[in-house]
Amino acid sequence: MYKTQMNDVVYQIWPRSFKDSNGDGIGDIQGIISKLDYLQSLGIKTIWLCPVYVSPNSDYGYDISDYYNIQPEFGTMADMDQLIHEAKNRGIGILMDLVANHTSSEHPWFKKAMADPESKYRDYYFFQEGKNGKEPNNWISVFGGPAWTKSNRDNEYYLTMFTPQQVDLNWKNPEVRQEIYKIMTFWMNKGIAGFRMDVINIIAKAEGLPDKDPHKKGLQFAGDLIVSQPMSHEYLREMYEEVMSKYPGLYLGEGMIVNKDSCAQYCGFDRKELDMMFHFDLALIGCGPLGKYDFTKLYHWTIPDFKNIFTKWNVAAYENKFWMGNFLSNHDNGRSVSRFGDEKRFRAQSQKALLVSTMTAYGTPFIYQGEEIGMTNMKIDEKDWEDFEAISDFKMLKQMFHLPRFIRLYVIQKMTRDNARTIMQWDSGEHAGFSTKKPWYLINPNHKEINVKDDLEDKDSILNFTKELIAYHQTHSALRSGSFKPVMESHKQILAYVREDENEKLMVLINLDNKPALFKADDYQEMRTQLCNYSTYGPMDKKMVFRPYEARIVKLVSQNP
Ligand code: GLC
Ligand code: CA
Repeated sequence: MYKTQMNDVVYQIWPRSFKDSNGDGIGDIQGIISKLDYLQSLGIKTIWLCPVYVSPNSDYGYDISDYYNIQPEFGTMADMDQLIHEAKNRGIGILMDLVANHTSSEHPWFKKAMADPESKYRDYYFFQEGKNGKEPNNWISVFGGPAWTKSNRDNEYYLTMFTPQQVDLNWKNPEVRQEIYKIMTFWMNKGIAGFRMDVINIIAKAEGLPDKDPHKKGLQFAGDLIVSQPMSHEYLREMYEEVMSKYPGLYLGEGMIVNKDSCAQYCGFDRKELDMMFHFDLALIGCGPLGKYDFTKLYHWTIPDFKNIFTKWNVAAYENKFWMGNFLSNHDNGRSVSRFGDEKRFRAQSQKALLVSTMTAYGTPFIYQGEEIGMTNMKIDEKDWEDFEAISDFKMLKQMFHLPRFIRLYVIQKMTRDNARTIMQWDSGEHAGFSTKKPWYLINPNHKEINVKDDLEDKDSILNFTKELIAYHQTHSALRSGSFKPVMESHKQILAYVREDENEKLMVLINLDNKPALFKADDYQEMRTQLCNYSTYGPMDKKMVFRPYEARIVKLVSQNP
């Protein structure tokens, strides 16, 4: 079954914007080391560190040119060793990002493949001839535009499912797989706690890379030709044999378009593949079927929509015995309070309520840097866009859908990954306590009011509530591994469920609305409030009003002797 430690709270760091130690305006490893005491004081037990390997940064670290060395902007291998060591001294493990679907086009393997058609490295990637003067197939890249990039030879292309500088690896080649296992082993031997595996469910591609829906015009999302191919499971089982079984740790997969059946296959308790998986159904709430930049539903969603998604996944994981990584914000998705809460009128209450949901769901809770103080999205001007996906989709929305500029701006500003990449707000000072110099990226002007320093001093702050929640999660086995059962499923405002194990029975109640909500108990158990996101609160009553975004964890005590 699940391993202990696996359900402890994880804190995600996107290093470039977390903390700069040497005054060059770029976050770095020594910066993280300087904040380890802070992280320990939160109570987290694991850090998921977004990529720190050598990278030309076409996709901010997700295009890796050397998996065995550290990006000079971030520090040295000695810094990394120190981070692993000092984190361990504080009871914190480091999860590295394993980006193994693709390498950077600057990776020596790819350079050799380009330089010499006879090189064995040709077969590390997908090189193919064009068809009728066009790309080899009609796949669209995840970031817009064709999924193929022209090589240095006539009528020849290579597969790039993300940016043109991220070249897809050919996992069919056993040598490629051995290289990946070697990288993993190298890092596990350094004492890291495991890996978060980037887009791991698309490592296997359909044999022959056929056209998707050939009768349709234009580029098509490859969908079931790349997502969760049967071979992806074979590869992960091999990886399990070769690495994961030898180095117990935490192995988490990022699932692009996963459903509960495929999750059960990737991380079912007895599958010998992964420990847990991320899904993106909540992150994509209100989006059209084509994903993040599909605005056709105008990003409109209701509380029942949120409840349905949340409940469906939690029930599925519990009943089908698989484990989930639960998050509402990360480096690819904007700030949770801006997306799901009410950042204007109820920023603190709604952020706290959202944290309660992450921290009490079935699985491992993940919080993203800045979420513990309720950082918000900011409206980022076009001139400041850095996110390749957003910039590319801004063009695509014009070319493919002929959308007027003001709508395109709205869509991008709402969904750009840049929202998550503004500078961490440590204090109200000039550079937000991040650096002594102007940082590489924007600081939200609201750091004057929203920052770690002020939150530490305010006993009712989001930060102090987060600590309380993490401590509660740490000590309550029903939240860590108990069963999950939804209650009040048809309630229009309150998300409610029961987590239970042999020690206790806890009910979680979260009013997801910015209006008051009526709560009525359907049985007569005694209800004792354990934790509430409002500083003052009365006892639970069988019939009572929940204030906007009020959230409680309630102990249910049976009255039968
Ligand atoms: C994952 C990462 C994202 C990256 C993409 C390609 O989705 O989270 O940041 O751009 O994979 O590596
Ligand atoms: Ca720096």
